[in-house]
Amino acid sequence: MQSLLVAVAVALVAASAAAVASAKSADATDDLYYRQQSLGGLGGLGQVEDAAVDAEASADPITASDPSLLRSVGGPGGYNPNSGSYQGAYQGYQPGLAGYQASASGADATAGIPAPAHDQLDFKYHNYEKMTKYLRTTSSRYPNLTALYSIGKSVQGRDLWVMVVSASPYEHMIGKPDVKYVANMHGNEAVGRELMLHLVQYLVNSYSTDPYIKWLLDNTRIHILPSMNPDGFEVSREGQCDGGQGRYNARGFDLNRNFPDYFKQNNKRGQPETDAVKEWTSKIQFVLSGGLHGGALVASYPFDNTPNSRMCRSTPLCSVFQNYASTPSLTPDDDVFKHLALTYSSNHPVMSRGVACKAGTPAFSRGITNGAEWYPLTGGMQDFNYVWYGCMEVTLELSCCKFPPASELPKFWEENRVSLVKFLAEAHRGVHGFVMDENGNPVEKAALKVKGRDVGFQTTKYGEFWRILLPGVYKLEVYAEGYLPREVDLMVVEQHPTLLNVTLHPAKRNDNLYRHPTVGDRLGPGPGPSYHSQHSAPAPHSSKPASDGGIFSSITSGFNNFVSNIFG
Ligand SMILES: *[C@@H]1O[C@H](CO)[C@@H](O)[C@H](O)[C@H]1NC(C)=O
Ligand SMILES: *[C@@H]1O[C@H](CO)[C@@H](O)[C@H](O)[C@H]1NC(C)=O
Ligand SMILES: [Zn+2]
Repeated sequence: MQSLLVAVAVALVAASAAAVASAKSADATDDLYYRQQSLGGLGGLGQVEDAAVDAEASADPITASDPSLLRSVGGPGGYNPNSGSYQGAYQGYQPGLAGYQASASGADATAGIPAPAHDQLDFKYHNYEKMTKYLRTTSSRYPNLTALYSIGKSVQGRDLWVMVVSASPYEHMIGKPDVKYVANMHGNEAVGRELMLHLVQYLVNSYSTDPYIKWLLDNTRIHILPSMNPDGFEVSREGQCDGGQGRYNARGFDLNRNFPDYFKQNNKRGQPETDAVKEWTSKIQFVLSGGLHGGALVASYPFDNTPNSRMCRSTPLCSVFQNYASTPSLTPDDDVFKHLALTYSSNHPVMSRGVACKAGTPAFSRGITNGAEWYPLTGGMQDFNYVWYGCMEVTLELSCCKFPPASELPKFWEENRVSLVKFLAEAHRGVHGFVMDENGNPVEKAALKVKGRDVGFQTTKYGEFWRILLPGVYKLEVYAEGYLPREVDLMVVEQHPTLLNVTLHPAKRNDNLYRHPTVGDRLGPGPGPSYHSQHSAPAPHSSKPASDGGIFSSITSGFNNFVSNIFG
């Protein structure tokens, strides 16, 4: 934390020193989130909350009253429990999840809407200096739609810039999801980095002309980290399709092997770039995330690691075997992850075909794969996001060549544009809402779990929660210290997210008997500091002898057992 504050202070000083024209420039609000943190909270919250909640009411058609009955607001219709279908007349809702097809289904979607000349971004690679200039310029030009902040610095002192693109760039919109893209964590995988710069420009240029993009930015905060490894990028070379030059950070660490791991203790020393991302993901409850890579063409979803990895610690032969094992390591949210990966690949004209990059490399059916089934790895970012914070992250491999010639960038942009937008919109699928006490005050850090999906999540300080779910009927388990646990039924439909408010009633002293003795355990590690303090170092199961292979081998038949054994 100390180092973060220092980093923020440095960034703020740097920001105020920079020459900017506008008073409300992005520089003036750089690191706003972190600055607010360091000042002890958000100012003027009441106002923001009212505005956000009003907007919410018009954006979310389906609500579930508490307890557990679904009804609709704003008109006739609603969920009919007998027919099992949603018949709501939904007015005033802009395109929604499915709406992008019409407005941007092809290369000509925005034809006839020329961007202002000064907003054309070159299809060239931008080194750190040029990227920084572009981000600063754009954030001052679009102060209502963008904010630039730094989450920390690389080993060599380069800022890890994050651009927020949203109708509310400076503050979280209560009740609305934050999402992110992280590109270029392998410094020589350069396509994603450039696509992020183009995505920023595309979003701000389209806000006033494309109703779908307007809806997305009005209802989502999109955080874009174009380069998690700016040092590596500087020593990478355009045209080098393979190899490791520039892949690692300036100390030679692979950042996608540098995160805490669920299955195996990761002894790699935490690097500044990884630490910054860990801090960032702990401060903002991201609902959905994409990690952008290159060197393959596939959307790869958790888990990246497998329970078997532990048994491989002592036997070198085992790890050789493991690399060729191709055993899937599936999460309890496998249906959701497959859907998210397919959302990306099926909107990508080449990835969706699932053809091999070249002879000797795998072909992925429909352009998706389970991470461990492709090859298992320890310390990856996507497993960390999901297990620690309930943030669903997918790894997006965007180009067979890691650092293709810049002349190919227009093609990559067109291939990925629709996928990049539609993927983020998936944050609006499933269930979200608030956990409150009897007086309507938010309950922070309530632990939630969808029954049968034993990777939990927590409420924010405003009592908010989100969970991406496919259409169906679910039970949500809610538990918070000092309250009676609750189980709430809910239904998720295809068209719109379900809004679900849960009121918790205080546990009286004798009610402690009712406290669900295993909820906390069965929630698994879950997000937030509680997990860290309890489980992060050493890893929860690291002290267990290797002889518990039986537990691990049973994971596919019962994740439930697995989790309760490990955390029980
Ligand atoms: C930003 O928003 C404010 C308030 O809605 C508005 O008055 C102003 O014109 C906007 N500025 C730009 C550059 O769009
Ligand atoms: C849910 O709670 C939020 C926050 O307190 C409130 O604004 C909203 O109106 C509630 N919705 C329903 C349907 O109760
Ligand atoms: Zn990579």
